[in-house]
Amino acid sequence: MNIVVAPVLGEVEFRVVYALWQAMAKFLGPPNRGVLRGAMKQGQLLVARCGALVGGFIHFHLRRDGVVTIYDVAVSPLVRRQGIGKMLVETVAALSPVGKVKLKCTTTNPANLFYKRCGFTLLGTEPSTNTTLNVWERTQDAHANHP
Ligand SMILES: CC(C)(COP(=O)(O)OP(=O)(O)OC[C@H]1O[C@@H](n2cnc3c(N)ncnc32)[C@H](O)[C@@H]1OP(=O)(O)O)[C@@H](O)C(=O)NCCC(=O)NCCS
Repeated sequence: MNIVVAPVLGEVEFRVVYALWQAMAKFLGPPNRGVLRGAMKQGQLLVARCGALVGGFIHFHLRRDGVVTIYDVAVSPLVRRQGIGKMLVETVAALSPVGKVKLKCTTTNPANLFYKRCGFTLLGTEPSTNTTLNVWERTQDAHANHP
């Protein structure tokens, strides 16, 4: 399958991303149109185009200190376990001039195994509203040594 990761383009793609987020609200929390639109304008919302299908998206922020923070990443159940999630993560990781990526994920989310497979290190946990979050980090050197 030909997969292209690129910034969200136009209203139709934006709506597909919004719908994907809605479908995965259980893991991502409810979608926020304003936040998504802002991210789109700033180039911080990317999609994975799989042929004619939007297979997934990633919402991230490149901090002033060069660290990339991943806020949300999701892949449609139709195309999971084909490397698309990893491709999205690698694309934003490559934008970090200091080679560092951080994210937080609810401790009960199966996606924690995905982050581990992507070479992230679990730094610890922190409490959040009604839940506990895993704090993950990946540095370029550590990733290069990952099997
Ligand atoms: C997490 C998610 C983005 C993974 O997307 P994906 O395209 O299926 O992931 P990939 O195919 O790129 O997988 C990369 C690696 O992670 C592993 N992996 C992916 N999902 C996994 C899971 N649920 N359990 C265990 N391993 C998993 C894959 O086997 C693969 O391992 P490999 O490199 O050894 O082959 C997807 O399951 C999803 O959208 N989940 C719901 C939304 C969500 O929870 N997002 C995270 C919020 S913190």
